[in-house]
Amino acid sequence: MQKWTVQSNATNKILHSPPSWFERLDWAALFPKRQPVEVDLGCGDGSLLLHWAKRFPDRNWLGVERLKGRVLKLERKAPRLGIAGNLRALRIESGYAVEWLFPPASVTAFHIYFPDPWPKKRHHKYRLVQPAFVTVLARALEPGGFVNLATDHGDYFAEMLACFGANASFERVEPLVPATPEEMTDFERDFATEGRPINRARFRKVRS
Ligand SMILES: C[S@@+](CC[C@H](N)C(=O)[O-])C[C@H]1O[C@@H](n2cnc3c(N)ncnc32)[C@H](O)[C@@H]1O
Repeated sequence: MQKWTVQSNATNKILHSPPSWFERLDWAALFPKRQPVEVDLGCGDGSLLLHWAKRFPDRNWLGVERLKGRVLKLERKAPRLGIAGNLRALRIESGYAVEWLFPPASVTAFHIYFPDPWPKKRHHKYRLVQPAFVTVLARALEPGGFVNLATDHGDYFAEMLACFGANASFERVEPLVPATPEEMTDFERDFATEGRPINRARFRKVRS
């Protein structure tokens, strides 16, 4: 059998290419079942997404990642775990996806775990979590939806708290804390081994 005949059909393809990168996504075109959508922004190799997609088949899971090699890993691993319908990935920049691709009030939860910290002051402008980004997260979330954050970087964490604290759409609630290593991201498992402290926060959308 030739290699290219093995690929799944469009409905089951994990790596999604929308018909246009300039129009909002139609979740029904990505996921066969209409159910809550949770998005992991900067999902890396996606091991946590794979875990969730398997454990919570009654939710749709989307990974957003700019590096092709990482989303392709996700695509390779999912079928081996029997995951097909409720997991998709987009290879694109997270800020663009949230602002321009996601339909308003359509996402149940965002997960932003260990986003690149850009530690040098002159590079802070490249950080994902900024006031304008928090506003577009609020627009994409359903009423009552959540943003979950984790970082090992204390200074970036303080900035995250300030950005969400200044946005009236959100209130801070108890964070999600992984109970097992499977509930950790790849980066978190490494940091846990090193004994690095992890900062976590969770925000709920309380008004538009
Ligand atoms: C430090 S890693 C964390 C990966 C994963 N969340 C984890 O905790 O294991 C950051 C990931 O975000 C991706 N990334 C960084 N900036 C991004 C952006 N603006 N849009 C999409 N992906 C981004 C990187 O390629 C990388 O895979």
